Amino acid sequence: MSEQIMVDVRDLKKHFKKGSEVLKAVDGVSFQIRKGETFGLVGESGSGKSTVGRCLIRLYDYTGGEVYFDGQNLSNFGDKQLKPYRRRIQTIFQDPYSSLNPGMNVLELIGEPMDIHGIHMKANERKEFVAGLLKKVGLKEEHLYRYPHEFSGGQRQRISIARALSVRPDFVVCDEPISALDVSVQAQVVNMLEDLQAEFGLTYLFIAHDLSMVRHISDRIGVMYKGRLVEVAESDELYDNPLHPYTKALLSSIPIPDPRTASQNMAIKYEVPTAGDGAVPELREVSPGHFVADH
Ligand SMILES: Nc1ncnc2c1ncn2[C@@H]1O[C@H](COP(=O)(O)OP(=O)(O)OP(=O)(O)O)[C@@H](O)[C@H]1O
Ligand SMILES: [Mg+2]
Repeated sequence: MSEQIMVDVRDLKKHFKKGSEVLKAVDGVSFQIRKGETFGLVGESGSGKSTVGRCLIRLYDYTGGEVYFDGQNLSNFGDKQLKPYRRRIQTIFQDPYSSLNPGMNVLELIGEPMDIHGIHMKANERKEFVAGLLKKVGLKEEHLYRYPHEFSGGQRQRISIARALSVRPDFVVCDEPISALDVSVQAQVVNMLEDLQAEFGLTYLFIAHDLSMVRHISDRIGVMYKGRLVEVAESDELYDNPLHPYTKALLSSIPIPDPRTASQNMAIKYEVPTAGDGAVPELREVSPGHFVADH
């Protein structure tokens, strides 16, 4: 992993208006992801993880803050300026059932992002290229003309991954890419993501509920609570030496993986103590590379 910063998120805020109320889904989040690194983002449901991911790829405009990608501030870019970055930044979502158009075969599904980003090849070249990608994600050339309903959840996620990789991205936001899969295939898909990362020099943001999986794949991890990061550290350091009370609560409730419930069963009884004036503490570095927001 290099020291070069690929993604630099500075005081990111995304607030949603809900009637007369404002929901602060993300409220002042800062972190950096190095080139080639996997940065894990954990936290209970509703803590703002996906919203962070969506802001990075500008599916959402944000309320405040900046996102730098490979040294470029994308925050004020319009559609035209963003276009090359929308190729370089790809996403893999949780649900491989709804994210693939049922009316397209595998060759068309994987070719679609290539068309969008103007990666043109002759028909037979493209077929060979896509067949090569299929092999890399553990599928076969004979799958080229099949449709999503003919595949298992794990295979569909492999197709989604091939789709994302077809445009040669640098950075992939993996938003709970294995949560909807059977436990038996989760590890396979994670191992494959790691192999692909090494082969293509990818940088990952890996959003997950499953703490054992996120520890395995991540170099560093950020813990989100109510729209804020409460702790950031290298993976092993976070697990061996959690400092924030919320991280401790999260780690002590590592769920037993059950594909039917594991993704949503992490509600944790915990309130961040605020100072007397209600101020929320900022992240500060307490040992090299270990940041915590606590009084
Ligand atoms: N488009 C939207 N409009 C309004 N509110 C939203 C929108 N997207 C997210 N939210 C709200 O923002 C908060 C954070 O949601 P987000 O999806 O980022 O959480 P999450 O950490 O990814 O949760 P989960 O683990 O369940 O996926 C939630 O309260 C959610 O209801
Ligand atoms: Mg989410």
